[in-house]
Amino acid sequence: MTKIVVLGSNGFIGKHLTRTLAEDPNNNIVAFDGFKEYRQGQAEPFSDLQNVDIYLGDFLNTDDLDGALHSADYVFHLISTTTPASSDKDPLIDIDTNIKGSVELFNICLKNKVKKIIFPSSGGTVYGDSPTGFNKEDDLAIPYSPYGIGKLAIEYYLGYFKRTHGLDYIVYRLSNPYGPGQNIYGKQGVIPIFLNKILNNEELTIYGNGEMVRDYIYIDDAVNMISRTFRADTQHNTYNIGSGKGESVNQIVEILKQTTGQVINTTHVKTPLSYVEKSVLNTERFINEFGIGPETTLEAGIKETWNYIKSNYTS
Ligand SMILES: NC(=O)c1ccc[n+]([C@@H]2O[C@H](COP(=O)([O-])OP(=O)(O)OC[C@H]3O[C@@H](n4cnc5c(N)ncnc54)[C@H](O)[C@@H]3O)[C@@H](O)[C@H]2O)c1
Repeated sequence: MTKIVVLGSNGFIGKHLTRTLAEDPNNNIVAFDGFKEYRQGQAEPFSDLQNVDIYLGDFLNTDDLDGALHSADYVFHLISTTTPASSDKDPLIDIDTNIKGSVELFNICLKNKVKKIIFPSSGGTVYGDSPTGFNKEDDLAIPYSPYGIGKLAIEYYLGYFKRTHGLDYIVYRLSNPYGPGQNIYGKQGVIPIFLNKILNNEELTIYGNGEMVRDYIYIDDAVNMISRTFRADTQHNTYNIGSGKGESVNQIVEILKQTTGQVINTTHVKTPLSYVEKSVLNTERFINEFGIGPETTLEAGIKETWNYIKSNYTS
């Protein structure tokens, strides 16, 4: 059996990834999270899956991490205490929690002789506003937000731990994953947030003139690309994962209009200064090496997400 620890398994990406990893009966998965909803009385997560054990723990508690990582082969680090929006409010939070906690985690990985750590970084924020807006892994990365700065710092620490202690790792710089199960009330994920507002006949709040461009990838595609490649002896340590295409917020709103068939009202506010104008990922490195890529069109992925939100949130 291969023991895989998924830190942040109750989050949007973590839930999908845990379920996908559990499809292989040779994987024994430890699903680590604070599991807030479960602690508040909701049903036990993953109780339908025989090869998943949940571990209620705090990422910022080294004893919890040490307990979960005992004899682990692979560790997915999917925990973040901030989002790009929340990190702006206090730049110290990323240093005190995400960066410090990640370095503590890497020490615990060494102690437990973990084979490889897998870290989904943020393809949308680490590069900053590059001249082309179409970013390759080796491009100069100048993140604007404390969230992006924190992600890049964690990547650098992974490089340090590999160089000095031989801890193997892979970084997936993810663009903007979206899909069923994403937090509709959150501060990250414009597609589900907007769909929920449309469901409730509420106005959509758009930053600037709506021409901000992002790269969107359907969650199943992102998880498929990660779960099929993380064990490989890879040529590089860092890979972009995205659709390789850019859509403006205005284009997204147009697709939402067609998908939902509803009238959409919008209001415009100033774009936060830490947001980049255009971010699209060049995914040639990943596709050339592994021969797989995203399969879901934006229209099909948005339709799936809309159907999910309608059936789960309509009273
Ligand atoms: N969603 C995106 O658009 C996106 C894009 C690129 C990278 N990422 C990164 O991928 C990772 C997962 O993203 P997500 O969208 O699934 O996030 P999420 O917020 O849905 O999930 C994060 C999970 O971490 C858990 N968590 C937070 N602090 C904890 C703590 N102290 N102890 C235990 N558990 C704790 C939360 O309970 C939650 O279940 C994050 O690091 C995120 O920054 C996300």
